[in-house]
Amino acid sequence: MKDNESQFSSKFGVVAATAGSAIGLGNLWGFSYKAGIAGGGYFIAIYFLFVAIIGFPIMVSEFIIGKAGKADAITCYEKLDKKNTIFKWSGIFSVTGSFLILTFYSVIAGWSLIYFYEGLVSGFDSFTPARSGMIFNSIIKDPYLSISSQIAFMLLVAIVLLRGIEAGIEKISKILMLVLFSIILTIAIIGFFLPGAQDAYKFLFMPSLERITNNPLFIANTAMTQAFFSLSLGAATIITYGSYVDKDTDIISVSRQVIIADTFVSLLAGIAIFPIVFSANLNPSSGAGLMFVSLPTGFRMMIGGRVLGVLFFGAVVVAALTSAISLLENTVSLFVNRFNMSRTKIIIISTIIAIIIGLGSQEAFVFSMKILRWTGKTKFLDQIDKLALGVLIPISTLFTILFTGYRLEYKYIEREFKSKKSAKIFYNYIKIGLPILIIFLTMGDLLEIIL
Ligand code: TRP
Repeated sequence: MKDNESQFSSKFGVVAATAGSAIGLGNLWGFSYKAGIAGGGYFIAIYFLFVAIIGFPIMVSEFIIGKAGKADAITCYEKLDKKNTIFKWSGIFSVTGSFLILTFYSVIAGWSLIYFYEGLVSGFDSFTPARSGMIFNSIIKDPYLSISSQIAFMLLVAIVLLRGIEAGIEKISKILMLVLFSIILTIAIIGFFLPGAQDAYKFLFMPSLERITNNPLFIANTAMTQAFFSLSLGAATIITYGSYVDKDTDIISVSRQVIIADTFVSLLAGIAIFPIVFSANLNPSSGAGLMFVSLPTGFRMMIGGRVLGVLFFGAVVVAALTSAISLLENTVSLFVNRFNMSRTKIIIISTIIAIIIGLGSQEAFVFSMKILRWTGKTKFLDQIDKLALGVLIPISTLFTILFTGYRLEYKYIEREFKSKKSAKIFYNYIKIGLPILIIFLTMGDLLEIIL
């Protein structure tokens, strides 16, 4: 392989690309509403803790595997595991997981693209509190609108990837992360002066036992899966990006910086979004409703809301784009490495397949064709979401750390740490403490479902 073409150019480039992957819909929308409904300050405290004691060591492990294996995730596991055991499956799980995430991620990103356009042309004029929900429903059920926006978004992803790793992924991430950060910061500062700011901060940060309706284990599990998703763990991404890192890059410091940036943007997004929602007396509801129903109404009622609304949905598209490129790059890297396919060819093919599978997550498609509706009420999007987030990712992160602890040669771990002692502490924790913690938290969730 031509080395300079398949590498990031600097440590800052690695941080920007990885932060670009990490910072996405999960931050701008997932984090704050989960915090709101799952105990405010309590959730945030648990989340911080888990990011540090679970997310950080897993990110470091994935970087170590990628940097040592210098290949796609599946090949890395194979190459580094002399005994050729079941760990190869971890690679298969994780690449499949990332592809599945991409299929529904692009549908939601497509909606954001529509809202960006809507804000630009109409300033959300028709989004009154009474009608906002209806408009959202009619948008996502309109086959032409929803499917063409999904395709448009996937084309953007493909264009970036076609430009390659340094000129595509790295360069676009450096620019877009800066844009994203400036927009969210601006909205957060303006939000501070809105009348609902106090209530909003209380909702987000005040520890509230009343808002913990589920058992504590369930909340801990929510915090853990949110941390996995937000940090792009368990889906081959960090392994793939790790394989594009040169041998002198300090991946521990990279991981630390990415994790701080990701968590900071999650908090900042909550601080930006909720003052708008509370000032307009809107429902700080969960899921799609918050971003696509409540927020546009809020922007419509605010002075300068039109500009802010367009900026906000622009930021959502930007965040989703740098995440989606990382989700597809896993598959691209796999086929380039193992089957010697050209980048261009595999990018085109996988983009088309991702679009087709993504149609299954399109309400418009599902309802108009009356197919792919699995059980009576649950939708394909929710099913894929559950499969990828609830099952594939936790299993694959568990595999990753067991692999690092029990299969990987110790020299690959030791060389990344400044002192022998910290390498040893990390190693022992990865071997015993962390797997137990993850299994315990995952079981808690399973019990909740079963009981
Ligand atoms: N982290 C991104 C977000 O917060 C989504 C994402 C990108 C992701 N790559 C991933 C999630 C790999 C899990 C695994 O929106």
